[in-house]
Amino acid sequence: MKILVTGGAGYIGSHTVVELLESGHEVVIIDDFSNSSGEVLDKISMITDKEFVFYEGDVCDKNFLESVFAKENIDSVIHFAGYKAVGESVANPLKYYRNNIDSTLSLLEVMDNNKVYNFVFSSSACVYGVPDTLPMKEDFPLSPTNPYGYTKLFIEQILKDLSHSNDKWNIALLRYFNPIGAHESGLIGENPNGVPNNIMPYIMRVATGQYDKVHVFGNDYDTEDGTGVRDYIHVVDLAKGHIKAIDYLNSNDGLSIFNLGTGIGHSVMELIKITEKVNDVAVPYVIDERRPGDIDEYYADPSLANEKLGWKAEKDIEDMCRDAYIFAFKNN
Ligand code: UFG
Repeated sequence: MKILVTGGAGYIGSHTVVELLESGHEVVIIDDFSNSSGEVLDKISMITDKEFVFYEGDVCDKNFLESVFAKENIDSVIHFAGYKAVGESVANPLKYYRNNIDSTLSLLEVMDNNKVYNFVFSSSACVYGVPDTLPMKEDFPLSPTNPYGYTKLFIEQILKDLSHSNDKWNIALLRYFNPIGAHESGLIGENPNGVPNNIMPYIMRVATGQYDKVHVFGNDYDTEDGTGVRDYIHVVDLAKGHIKAIDYLNSNDGLSIFNLGTGIGHSVMELIKITEKVNDVAVPYVIDERRPGDIDEYYADPSLANEKLGWKAEKDIEDMCRDAYIFAFKNN
């Protein structure tokens, strides 16, 4: 099958392109390099030794999208392209609503014009509210805490409405928990511009000596060691979930929602200690104030994806910390 991947040069997108190529799919990538670089495309070629097609452009631009669909006989679309910095979305909500929603509407309209109806959407666990119980299931109440999360929720709603309007659409909403780690080659991984907001890229900057110490945001949470607990998932496992979702849409109609997580929670202190142990490096840290908006603990119930997609996260937290470090070490 020929799969269009928007944001295919990004962190999760690039790992998904690798898995698609390795499983024999043809791939067309669209990216505008707003948060990635052309080097990633060379690295994908080095890892897979396979060919793919690339178009540089903006997914909001319908004329551009029409030109891509006219040239390529697309079967399915995986839509990653979008802004993703929580803090920036609070400071500049219009930028987030405009870009993330506009791009998705343009893409869906152009798909409809070209009679392409299989769509996998990159959603997030941040669509859920603060959970009363754990693990989190797909039918838990939805209540994001920031504009970025609302763009994901609004797009989910648009896709639900679209699926109700016409049963020709086959849609998978994938709610990611916390992706970390990197491809085992160390060629692609997560390397954000500027100071990282997320914990793992920050730990990596400390582990490679670029920063002095990790700032642990609070150690008085209601968790085993007092630091925040999340469901970290290896980005390669996450990428494989997309291949299963593409297969699933070929034989299942309508809209489906899946949590992609491991079902296991790990604390910030565990991440630091495991990174030190598996890589034989020092990761100094200091305990700081809580970050506003953070919650104590959450992790997925991934059983629906296990059952329906035949997908299960296989890599453990040690694999994640090791692969993240190999990439960081090679690319710092
Ligand atoms: N943390 C620190 N120090 C840091 C950064 C984070 O202690 O420098 C802590 C946080 O307090 C939290 C944990 O590390 O307890 C994880 O924080 P991240 O910022 O890495 O991740 P979040 O769980 O806050 O959010 C991430 C993405 C969201 C996404 C969500 C999905 O940023 O976009 O996961 O679960 F929606």
